[in-house]
Amino acid sequence: MGKYIIAGNWKMNKLPSETYDFVKEVAEATKGAECEVVCCTPYVCLAPAVEAAKGTHVKIGAENLHFEDSGAFTGEVSADMLVDLGVDYVIIGHSERRAYNNETDETVNKKIVKALAKGLIPIVCVGESLEEREAGITMDLISIQIKKAFAGISAEDAAKVVVAYEPIWAIGTGKTATDDQAEEVCGGIRQILADLYDDAAAKAVTIQYGGSMNAKNCAGLLAKENIDGGLIGGASLKAPDFATIVAAAK
Ligand code: PGA
Repeated sequence: MGKYIIAGNWKMNKLPSETYDFVKEVAEATKGAECEVVCCTPYVCLAPAVEAAKGTHVKIGAENLHFEDSGAFTGEVSADMLVDLGVDYVIIGHSERRAYNNETDETVNKKIVKALAKGLIPIVCVGESLEEREAGITMDLISIQIKKAFAGISAEDAAKVVVAYEPIWAIGTGKTATDDQAEEVCGGIRQILADLYDDAAAKAVTIQYGGSMNAKNCAGLLAKENIDGGLIGGASLKAPDFATIVAAAK
C-alpha cells in the first residue's frame, strides 16, 4: 500500500566513533534494496551517519526532536538542527519516550506538525500495553493515539507520515505479534486514517510493524497487506540481520 520502508531504531546504542563504518556496512549489505532503508541514530551519531550515507541509498533519521524552533530548552534538539545536518526522518512518540520522558499524545502531535513543516518525515509510534490488549481495548487506544497524533494535519501532509504500530509487550522482549495480530491492527490504523481523511491518503501512508521483528520472522509480517515495512530495534544493530529484513521488504 504505502511505500515500503525498513527503519532501524538504534535506541541508546553504538558510539559516534563506530557510526561511520557501521552505516557504510549497512549501505553495502543492503545494496539494491527495493525499499527505503533508514538508520535512526542517537543525536550524537547523526553527523557521522549522514556523512557515511552520502552517495548511498541509505537515509538517516533521529530518534526524537523538540517541537519548538529554538530557545531556552536545555538539552533539546530542534527540527532545524536536524535538517541542517542532512537528516530526513525522525521517530516521534516511541513508547520508551512515552514511558520515560513524559511524551504525550499532545507533544507527539506538536512534534509531527513541526517535523512536517520543516520537511522531515515523521515515523509516529503507537501501540498498546499487554494489559490493554488483554482488556480488549487495543483498537480503542490506537484510535485515540492516531486521532490525537493527526489533529490539525491536512490530508496532503498526512500522506507523508509513517505510522509504526509497536505493541509495547513485543518491544525488546522477543515476543512478536503474530502476523495476523499485526495485520489486524495495521489494517485498523488504515481504516481510521480513511475515516479521518480519505482512501487515497490512507493508502499513501506507510504503516510499519515494530516489536522484535528479526531476520527469522520478518517475511510473514512483511507479506501482510497492510504492513508496509518495519521499525527495527535490536536486529538493526547487526548489518547482516538488518539486510535480511530489508531484502524481505519488496
Ligand atoms: P525491538 O525494538 O525490535 O528491539 O523490539 C523495536 C522498537 O522499539 O522500535
